[in-house]
Amino acid sequence: MRKVCSTVQQSISNKGPALVTGASSGIGAVFAKKLAGRGHGLILVARRRDRLESLAGELSERFGVEAEVVAADLADPADMERLERLIRERTDLEFLVNNAGFGTAGRFSNVALSKNLDMLRVHCEATVRLSHAALPGMVAAKRGAIVNVSSVAGIIRVPGSAMYCSTKAFLNAFSETLSMELQETGVRVQALCPGFTYTEFHDSPEFADNFDRGDVPKFLWLSADRVVDMSLEALKRDQVICVTGLKYRLLVAVSTIRWLRPLLRRLTRKRER
Ligand SMILES: NC(=O)c1ccc[n+]([C@@H]2O[C@H](COP(=O)([O-])OP(=O)(O)OC[C@H]3O[C@@H](n4cnc5c(N)ncnc54)[C@H](OP(=O)(O)O)[C@@H]3O)[C@@H](O)[C@H]2O)c1
Repeated sequence: MRKVCSTVQQSISNKGPALVTGASSGIGAVFAKKLAGRGHGLILVARRRDRLESLAGELSERFGVEAEVVAADLADPADMERLERLIRERTDLEFLVNNAGFGTAGRFSNVALSKNLDMLRVHCEATVRLSHAALPGMVAAKRGAIVNVSSVAGIIRVPGSAMYCSTKAFLNAFSETLSMELQETGVRVQALCPGFTYTEFHDSPEFADNFDRGDVPKFLWLSADRVVDMSLEALKRDQVICVTGLKYRLLVAVSTIRWLRPLLRRLTRKRER
């Protein structure tokens, strides 16, 4: 993988580096900030190189950690291969945050097939390939963590998000099973399931005509800062499925009650078209 930004500053910590995908905004950028604050060097991955370089510069200066930038499209097989190779060579990787992701709005058959397949690649294939590349080093070092950023939508079925719900449900099952396999290796795995979070996620063209932040009750919105804090706290407790906050845990419980499901559908009706 071509490095597009040279190492910014020599790490003074003995902690292994953290690789964060989708670090150019939102939840990924906050993970990068919090992990740098804990002394981890960074490998920041996303397509927008300028964003990554600016974040790498800011965090290396602020926290005195090494920060490297890798511009890559996780839906592109060639970029994926180069990223995997980079991880296999970095046997000291201590943190892998598979966070890159995006949403679509509308019925499955109305969303371009190419978009649906890209989602499968970015959410599922990239997570599988990067985890497979990272695990031998982590297991040998008897330390490490993989956080797969899933969603509450991986637990609750939301019409209008067939691929999103399905790919996130895959991440939940994958994380749970992997964490069982890795018991007593010193490597932890988590599926982070955030609810609605203020990021750039809903600013994409896909949501322009189908989503209005105002339609979602204010009390359901979370900050990316809070989401990442909850993830890191849950990791300490070895909690594998981390649903962000009591309100969302209740929502997940309610979604299992058949006669309450129409209420949930009201929240998502617009996106279903
Ligand atoms: N915000 C929410 O309400 C919410 C709720 C539940 C779960 N999530 C999940 O949280 C994760 C982060 O999303 P966010 O809310 O922080 O949204 P965001 O601000 O839009 O960030 C998404 C990140 O993913 C990267 N990305 C998207 N497609 C990519 C690709 N093909 N290759 C490489 N990087 C790619 C983007 O970078 P580039 O554009 O620079 O490539 C960006 O850094 C996602 O997995 C999302 O599903 C979000």
